[in-house]
Amino acid sequence: MKIVKMEKISRLSGSLRVSSDKSISHRAVILGSIAEGKTVVNDFLFSDDTLATIDCFRKLGVDISKEKNKIIIKGRSLHGLKKSDEALYVGNSGTTIRIASGLLAGQNFTTKISGDASIKKRPMNRVIKPLELMGAKIGSNGGFAPLNIFGGELRGIDYSLPIPSAQVKSAILMASLYADGETVIRENIASRNHSELMLKDFGAYISFRENKIISGHTDRLLGREIFIPADISSASFFILAATLIKGSDIVLKDVLINETRTGFLDALKEMKADIEIFNTRMFGSEKVADLRVKSSDLKAIKVDEKMIPSLIDEVPLLAVAAAFADGESRITGAGELRLKESDRLSTMATELKKLGVDISELEDGLIIRGGNKLSRARVNSHKDHRVAMSLVVAGMASDGVDLEDAHCINVSYPRFFSDLYKIAK
Ligand code: S3P
Repeated sequence: MKIVKMEKISRLSGSLRVSSDKSISHRAVILGSIAEGKTVVNDFLFSDDTLATIDCFRKLGVDISKEKNKIIIKGRSLHGLKKSDEALYVGNSGTTIRIASGLLAGQNFTTKISGDASIKKRPMNRVIKPLELMGAKIGSNGGFAPLNIFGGELRGIDYSLPIPSAQVKSAILMASLYADGETVIRENIASRNHSELMLKDFGAYISFRENKIISGHTDRLLGREIFIPADISSASFFILAATLIKGSDIVLKDVLINETRTGFLDALKEMKADIEIFNTRMFGSEKVADLRVKSSDLKAIKVDEKMIPSLIDEVPLLAVAAAFADGESRITGAGELRLKESDRLSTMATELKKLGVDISELEDGLIIRGGNKLSRARVNSHKDHRVAMSLVVAGMASDGVDLEDAHCINVSYPRFFSDLYKIAK
């Protein structure tokens, strides 16, 4: 078991472009594969999760090549994917298995798709149910992977998402490209909208306003050039580290600031972090900016259900922020966290306690009483990349930490430590 020894860091300064966005990288591979012509994806994220998506689409007959920091996809058009004799393997990537399921439901062949031990524990009924309403036939292990997707004729549906989930929404959107008639998707609280934006850029039949998306049968998508922004979820680790480590002053470049993803920035600002957003501009349909972060003292915060989707992947890190803040923080409406790469409410409570944090679990959240002095301890990632990096941030801002099973960081951010040492003084 690989153990990373993270020492206390005295200051962060300088500028950095963190790794590219994972959600947008996945979608670029998927849409590029079913478009006509060439799609060039600049600043693609090369991580375990996105490489798994590339591997799946290569098995479906797509020619995807790498050239420095870009990938080039020779699209096979909407009806040109080939049946894979081998099962598709998504590794740890929930995004891949769920979005690909929607796409595979519209093919005229059968596909088996599975992943690692964590994937086999993550609920798939949330995509199986709406896809079956569209006419798909999907076999599963009691609602869990492996899935057998018997592709065929689909019809549009009018569907209210029972949980705000971009993965479920995107699976339905992919299926809707192949379905007869229109599909309407309604969501109470907006989840990330990268699929909608990118589908529109590729020329799909889609429109969206407020919490309603209308999409439908599409004849062709056209290959294009894409520039992927830096991932706000990866940037968040350094945003919090610079906030917590006294005397820090950093600039993070090209960061995605799509409003469906900026909940952590909003929460930290409410906690009195010093974050300046400047140089705002567009990368295609996605908004990006540079961020300047200086150290500051934090106050406790209350975060409820309405804010969760826009910071869904940052809840582990928010727990770390709260551990250093003055007062009692409460995170509620976050039951979905129990269904991620690990049960993140339980894993964060267990591991932060080892460092001396006063934290307790609610069924759907966490209560953290901030201000305890943290002391170095051996902690475990539970093979969850975001738990691992959150614990490293807690350690670098206190007494250090010894992290077991750090390898999982490669799922989203293989350059995490080398980027950190570019700005650690
Ligand atoms: C993702 C959506 C979110 C997020 C995940 C990536 C995506 O999951 O947690 O890391 O790229 O669509 P849910 O949509 O299931 O909440």
